[in-house]
Amino acid sequence: MGSSSLNLEDVSSDSLTTELLRRPPGSGKGTQSPMIKDEYCLCHLATGDMLRAAVAAKTPLGVKAKEAMDKGELVSDELVVGIIDEAMKKPSCRKGFVLDGFPRTVGQAQMLDEMLEKQGVKIDKVLDFAIDDVILEERITGRWIHAASGRSYHTKFAPPKVPGIDDVTGEPLIQRKDDTVVVLRSRLEAFHKQTKPVIDYYWKKGIVAKLHAEKSPKEVKDEVQKVLS
Ligand code: AP5
Repeated sequence: MGSSSLNLEDVSSDSLTTELLRRPPGSGKGTQSPMIKDEYCLCHLATGDMLRAAVAAKTPLGVKAKEAMDKGELVSDELVVGIIDEAMKKPSCRKGFVLDGFPRTVGQAQMLDEMLEKQGVKIDKVLDFAIDDVILEERITGRWIHAASGRSYHTKFAPPKVPGIDDVTGEPLIQRKDDTVVVLRSRLEAFHKQTKPVIDYYWKKGIVAKLHAEKSPKEVKDEVQKVLS
């Protein structure tokens, strides 16, 4: 993983492949991913964003995913692996990618390994956004997002310049349907049962970097840059 001053044309794609391991909902991975994407010229593949777009467009995939998402449960491994496999083939992902929200089961991690092996690329780094559950409720219920870009704001911690409006495009911000206290409980349960073992899976490979995700967005950004430089 190189710095922004690196000439990316001279770097093979396997040395630029990065993964953002998901951590609990609200840990800040969606806040940091766009920065990593811009700084390292990677493509940003967020399964949650892709699934929400499919739900909004009422595609067959979206129809299948909607019920699980509304309840805060995970959608099936096959569905998610299919969309990631497809997305990774885009020309914009040629230099490497940031995976945001994927893999979040050990089954997904194993399928990802198989996919990458076929392409001759590997995961460079897994960022573990470590944070206590008690901090997450305030983060989730105060979140507003710009649907088209995935930019994330918070009424208290990261307010937009004009309330309810995206700083970059001037378009309205929205609140996610699953950002309620009740659905957050199921999302956390899914995280502890199904996603925590994924962290152990990557620990054994020696590529996990643990971040202090309870710190301010700026401090977390500094930690991310340190780990990736
Ligand atoms: P997804 O969209 O991935 O949601 P999530 O995992 O619940 O994660 P969040 O987006 O809530 O958290 P985040 O860490 O990105 O938070 P953010 O940076 O915005 O998935 C949604 C659903 O899709 C899942 O429930 C599942 O059904 C399905 N799905 C997706 N991927 C799947 C997969 N691989 N397999 C199966 N199903 C899948 O931060 C939150 C708020 O806090 C923001 O307002 C932000 O401004 C603020 N904030 C951020 N950082 C800080 C900080 N350091 N200090 C203070 N405030 C901060």
